[in-house]
Amino acid sequence: MLRRGLLLASNSGVIKNMAANAPGSRRVVARFVPGERTADAVRAAAELATQGLTSTIDRLGEDVLSADQATATVEAYLSLLQALGEAGLADRSEVSVKLSAVGQALPRGGEFLALHNATLICAKAAEAGTTVTLDMEDHTTTDSTLWILTELRRDFPATGAVLQAQLRRTEGDLRDLSYLGSRIRLCKGAYQEPDSVAFTAREDIDLAYVRCLRRLIGSPAYAMVATHDPRLIEIAGTLASRANRSKESMEYQFLYGVRPDEQRRLVAQGDRVRVYVPYGDEWYGYLVRRMAEKPANLRLFLKSLTSRR
Ligand code: FDA
Repeated sequence: MLRRGLLLASNSGVIKNMAANAPGSRRVVARFVPGERTADAVRAAAELATQGLTSTIDRLGEDVLSADQATATVEAYLSLLQALGEAGLADRSEVSVKLSAVGQALPRGGEFLALHNATLICAKAAEAGTTVTLDMEDHTTTDSTLWILTELRRDFPATGAVLQAQLRRTEGDLRDLSYLGSRIRLCKGAYQEPDSVAFTAREDIDLAYVRCLRRLIGSPAYAMVATHDPRLIEIAGTLASRANRSKESMEYQFLYGVRPDEQRRLVAQGDRVRVYVPYGDEWYGYLVRRMAEKPANLRLFLKSLTSRR
């Protein structure tokens, strides 16, 4: 109920304006989204680097409605990659791209447009000395995203994949993708999916995550463990030491602003940790999704809307 209400609120212009203008809520927004401009993202990546954290930067904005909008997103990524290179951050910061933001959902040829646009971003990333990971969206896009990934990996083999443990198909996808050199981010999955294609009960999703972790960590692929769940992080660590995985062959990933103490704890024990940094003017829907995941964040946010400081 709460989650559905919040997801509806993600389309509310009124709440967005309040959030953007109430002084207290600006601070809450800044905790999860460092800013709207390229310079804000680069600054956040630089600050994370000083704490021993790497980053993957996402320009917020999904479901573009025209080829021009898709081109604007590509240009934003190209400027970002240029700026990361110039700031000397390319070895610590990569980018995450949603294919819907570069045209995948457009009728007549959207998939090919997305491949073309993603190729431009991958080429710029390679020139700057870094990589791209393709975010995964709802299940209707999985086949198309994996096809585009395969095409991109012909020229850019380090392009990262994302698999969602909640999808029933994922163990099979992992089997196909877990080869040496393949970078795979495993997450639970952020989209509300039907029972026919996904596990929908929390415990079933967690169990599926553990099964996928076993497969991923037991494989030669580079493992990117993207969860804030303390139990799953512990299980990943245990599986990795049982499999004699080196610390360099995997990383933990967190969203910007979520469990920063845990990020630092893992770094202090020698683990690799990457933070997903979203930026851009389309921050509101992203923020509401974070609220839907964690009621304590929602309380903080609602309180901040009415606070004067
Ligand atoms: P979940 O939300 O189930 O929470 C489990 C436990 O973790 C909680 O009980 C609590 O202990 C702890 N926790 C969670 N949130 C917390 C918070 N804010 N503060 C403190 N503790 C908290 N999804 C997708 O569909 N496609 C994608 O490409 C990506 N990419 C991606 C990258 C990265 C780096 C991350 C971390 C996540 C994604 N996701 C994603 C999102 C992912 O699928 C999922 O929706 C969220 O990470 C929430 O699930 P968790 O595994 O964190 O646990």
